[in-house]
Amino acid sequence: MSTPTATRPSLEGSRYDISARSFWEQDFWARNEVFSEFRRDCPVSWHRPYESTLLPPDEDTPGFWSVWKYDDIKYVSRNAKLFDSGRGMLMEDFPEVVAQASQSFLCMDDPEHAQLRAIVSQAFTPRRMRKIEDWIRQEVVSAVDDVIELGEANVSEALAKQIPGRIFADFFGLEGDADRRMVMDAAEAMLAWDDPTIAQGRDALEVYGEESMKLLDLCYELIDERRTKPGEDLLSWCVQAEVDGRKLEDWEIGAFFTLLAAAGNDTTRHSIAHALQLFTVHEDQRELLLGDLDGRLDGAVEEILRYVGPVQQFRRNATEDTEIRGQQIRKDDKVVIWYCSGSYDEDVFTDPTKFDITRTDNKHLGFGGGGPHFCLGSALGRMMVKYALHEVYTRMPDLRTGEPEYQVNNFIHGVHHLGATWTPGPKTGTSA
Ligand code: HEM
Repeated sequence: MSTPTATRPSLEGSRYDISARSFWEQDFWARNEVFSEFRRDCPVSWHRPYESTLLPPDEDTPGFWSVWKYDDIKYVSRNAKLFDSGRGMLMEDFPEVVAQASQSFLCMDDPEHAQLRAIVSQAFTPRRMRKIEDWIRQEVVSAVDDVIELGEANVSEALAKQIPGRIFADFFGLEGDADRRMVMDAAEAMLAWDDPTIAQGRDALEVYGEESMKLLDLCYELIDERRTKPGEDLLSWCVQAEVDGRKLEDWEIGAFFTLLAAAGNDTTRHSIAHALQLFTVHEDQRELLLGDLDGRLDGAVEEILRYVGPVQQFRRNATEDTEIRGQQIRKDDKVVIWYCSGSYDEDVFTDPTKFDITRTDNKHLGFGGGGPHFCLGSALGRMMVKYALHEVYTRMPDLRTGEPEYQVNNFIHGVHHLGATWTPGPKTGTSA
């Protein structure tokens, strides 16, 4: 399976062909097995262009490199001068206009990246996170209140999705259930452009374009309102913010909004859904968790993020000729870093396929490799997952899930449907 740079043999048709859409229709463990073989036999591998319908590759479009090992992923992530982000964020290419309108500073390099990130990062500082901790807990309590009397539900939709949806709505001052629901649905669909259930016959570009347009249209309406009547929310903040002595343009604020809707909602929602399923399948870990919920939750959250790999990949482009692990990378080559593989690297994690909430020193790559694009919402994401599990296993301790239906998705590791049952309980304040 070695890949000499000169010939770059194709993997097409083989089980290592991650550029085939069918690869992503396989079960997680089948994919994980392939990633493990790459780590062992070909830790920096070359691939043909993805079979994308976002922007179908031209005849002569080059493929991309994949970086599979933990240390190499961190190296690429932290070396932003040599591996930039401004020319595309994933192994698939997006039309430039679509990327600009929806991906904001995720798809930029410094100094623009740092300037724009600084505007919203004030909303996510650890100090501010501590301040809003009780409010987050309250939102989780009422999300559980909404389902607890039912005794059964698709918990991916009815519970996990609602938690970040509520928090996001409040951050941006969205009023009314209709807007909140629209944002959650559009954010979900936007990040699952390849999934047939979500696409409903549309091609990938239509899915991404139509869903991001819904978010932008709402944002533009809200920007007008906030200009005349500013509030305390993040959108009012963005409307008043200045970069280099100038106010942000509407399209820049719209791209912020779309980025945060996509980055904050689905990542967290799927992490929570996967967690509920993992604690059904791994009875021993469930007993450990329920035996000391307060003592073990923080470790459990880290292990969930490692094990699930909610965000599977991000891409960079080489800014000059270079080398990773002896493999020659040419200037402009695409370099995809596989966080979901790094978090299973046998050289870093003992027994990586074991789900172990007591794992110590769990430096997973769930939030990225530590470079300038490291997840801005990591503290918020952790908090939402933690309080979700705390509330569920305190008030619905016998919750068990059924067989999950996963999304077909090379970016987010998502769960469409996750049926669950539990003994119905009272809403807060309604117990006898
Ligand atoms: C469990 C939940 C989450 C996971 C697993 C996750 C994961 C990630 C990953 C892997 C990246 C890319 C890092 C890189 O390439 O260096 C990222 C970036 C980002 N995340 Fe998160 N995220 C989560 C929750 C959130 C939340 C709640 C927010 C806030 C609303 C958020 C906002 C962002 C933003 C704005 C970026 C782009 C940062 C930049 O380009 O500078 N994320 N996230």
